[in-house]
Amino acid sequence: MIPTRHDPLPTGQDKVDSVRTLFDTIAPRYDLVNRIMTFGLDVRWRDRTIKSLSLPAGSIVADLACGTGDFCRSLEAQNMQVLGFDLALGMLEHARTEAPLTQADVLHLPIANDSVDGVTCGFALRNFVELGPFFTELARVVRPGGRIALLDVSRPSSRVLRAGYDIYFGRVVPLIGGLLSNADAYGYLPRSLSYLPAPDRLRSDVTAAGFSNVEHHQLNGGLVQLITATA
Ligand SMILES: C[S@@+](CC[C@H](N)C(=O)[O-])C[C@H]1O[C@@H](n2cnc3c(N)ncnc32)[C@H](O)[C@@H]1O
Repeated sequence: MIPTRHDPLPTGQDKVDSVRTLFDTIAPRYDLVNRIMTFGLDVRWRDRTIKSLSLPAGSIVADLACGTGDFCRSLEAQNMQVLGFDLALGMLEHARTEAPLTQADVLHLPIANDSVDGVTCGFALRNFVELGPFFTELARVVRPGGRIALLDVSRPSSRVLRAGYDIYFGRVVPLIGGLLSNADAYGYLPRSLSYLPAPDRLRSDVTAAGFSNVEHHQLNGGLVQLITATA
């Protein structure tokens, strides 16, 4: 079930089931709604994320929660060897990428220890049941010296920007999403922001998982956040 705006935010296995159902439901029009909602800025944010990996062409990069394959395509364009993983089969069925795709929960990746040079993950952290175990799983699969770059939405710190952001993300996005796709799903997405810990906590959790050079960047005045680190 996709939570309605009257339901409490789900946790545990309920959250896994809700998130899977939600993305299976919105998959057919995900790309269209995404481009409209972000004014195409998401393309620029993904490019910045990939650049921050600082990995050479030919590197093996796992794109986690790959959805319909936007990151996979950008990584392929940089001549990376890409592997995509996502929980929702519906999203994978609508993916446009040459990368091999696997249905999997990012907390239990079906790949060996130290098997990838890098990881990207876009707009998905708030959907995971727990972030500590996710960062531990990243530390398991990324080889020593490899890189991670994790992108997600955030709430700007400037009061003016935040006011505009709250109206846009809290009202306009659910309206557009409701008209073009599914009202409950696009009502849930802004609410899911509250799952995300503060930047300091994110940084300390990534460090606790064993990463070094942990950096947290706010992009476009804090509309999105990017966390990078070295294994
Ligand atoms: C907002 S979409 C982002 C998709 C893509 N990364 C992008 O940049 O457009 C979030 C994705 O996270 C996936 N997801 C959520 N929880 C997951 C989990 N535990 N394991 C794997 N994928 C998950 C969803 O199925 C969905 O495709």
